[in-house]
Amino acid sequence: MPFTAKILLLGSGELGREFTISAKRLGAQVIACDSYAGAPAMQVADGFEIFSMLDADLLAKAIEKHQPDLVVPEVEAIRTEVLADFEARGVTVVPSARATIMTMNRDRIREVAAVELGLRTSRYRYAESLAEVLAGAAHTGLPCVIKPVMSSSGKGQSTVRTQEELEAAWNYAVANMRGDRSRVIVEEFIAFDYEITLLTVRSREGVSFCPPIGHRQERGDYQESWQPTPMSNAALAAAQDMARKVVDNLGGYGIFGVEFFVRGEDVIFSELSPRPHDTGMVTLISQNFSEFDLHARAILGLPVPEVTLRGPAASAVILADRESDDFQFEGLAEALATPGGEMDLRVFGKPTTRPYRRMAVALALADSADRARALAAEAAAKVRIVYGR
Ligand SMILES: Nc1ncnc2c1ncn2[C@@H]1O[C@H](COP(=O)(O)OP(=O)(O)OP(=O)(O)O)[C@@H](O)[C@H]1O
Ligand SMILES: [Mg+2]
Repeated sequence: MPFTAKILLLGSGELGREFTISAKRLGAQVIACDSYAGAPAMQVADGFEIFSMLDADLLAKAIEKHQPDLVVPEVEAIRTEVLADFEARGVTVVPSARATIMTMNRDRIREVAAVELGLRTSRYRYAESLAEVLAGAAHTGLPCVIKPVMSSSGKGQSTVRTQEELEAAWNYAVANMRGDRSRVIVEEFIAFDYEITLLTVRSREGVSFCPPIGHRQERGDYQESWQPTPMSNAALAAAQDMARKVVDNLGGYGIFGVEFFVRGEDVIFSELSPRPHDTGMVTLISQNFSEFDLHARAILGLPVPEVTLRGPAASAVILADRESDDFQFEGLAEALATPGGEMDLRVFGKPTTRPYRRMAVALALADSADRARALAAEAAAKVRIVYGR
């Protein structure tokens, strides 16, 4: 078949699924990989492989077997050294093997951002023992946030308000980290006014930005996001300047979700993902081209169109509350009939539920971002997961 490119997608969740649809519309062949059968992206891809992407041998075998033009990570938890090996042998890793390695390790990306590029970040220290945690907290002050250097979705992360809580936070981080380095970052707690994701596209034509996305997090996972979020021109310019520096340093083509905290006019770089961002699911309804379309265009070496907003919009997540492989969705019609805006849904098709697992997202386009947030939340609440047993 005359495919335009062969893509090996590493991670087949809801973001991978939307990316697969976008890439396939441009004629790409997508082989979706994940550790379990029936993952969301596998359902829409040309082929699939089931293996742990943290297993170096199995990851190398999958790349050798499929000989992809592009290896496209959808998640952080990947044996990234293998990607570096294949990149050295001429396989294109999106956006670059270095970007996947740096962003998987909080300490590496923090060094690039804070030290090499001199960006404004929270005060921080690394710690490999309780004594170093105590010293770190003395440096940052309390409250502080303790995170394993390797973890995502808030795993192992806690906010510490008193000296007495430091030991529990250290133990919690070590127990919930990924990888074999017992190392945490102790970060100054930023009492931000709001936080944003700045979707930043790096393509052969240069760097461009989507309007800023506001979001609200709970337990380390996003609950709702909206676009645009109000920001002064100066704050937006500061965020764009920092995002440009980081993505130019990391290199390669694709979309990056660059996260910032904003307090007054002070814009503080937090972290980034070198791929579509979960809070960016709002772009499925808000933008003329979604973050997935932009990622596909950029990595395939195609022109990246100018992004225009269709209007203020929001997304709200629909979560499961227990473990089950026997469940149904109800209330889709009511959700989509929510009056006051343009409503949409994405139901991811995950085969099993577990507490807090994101199963679907409600999308709303309205005459203001606040109105869109209210509508998306209302629609999300109308979608019910009904469990069989
Ligand atoms: N230093 C901080 N001060 C205040 N809040 C923080 C700080 N660090 C993290 N948070 C809060 O916790 C959330 C998750 O933190 P962070 O993005 O560093 O973790 P993560 O595990 O990489 O999450 P994800 O993978 O979902 O992006 C942030 O979006 C923010 O709401
Ligand atoms: Mg984050």
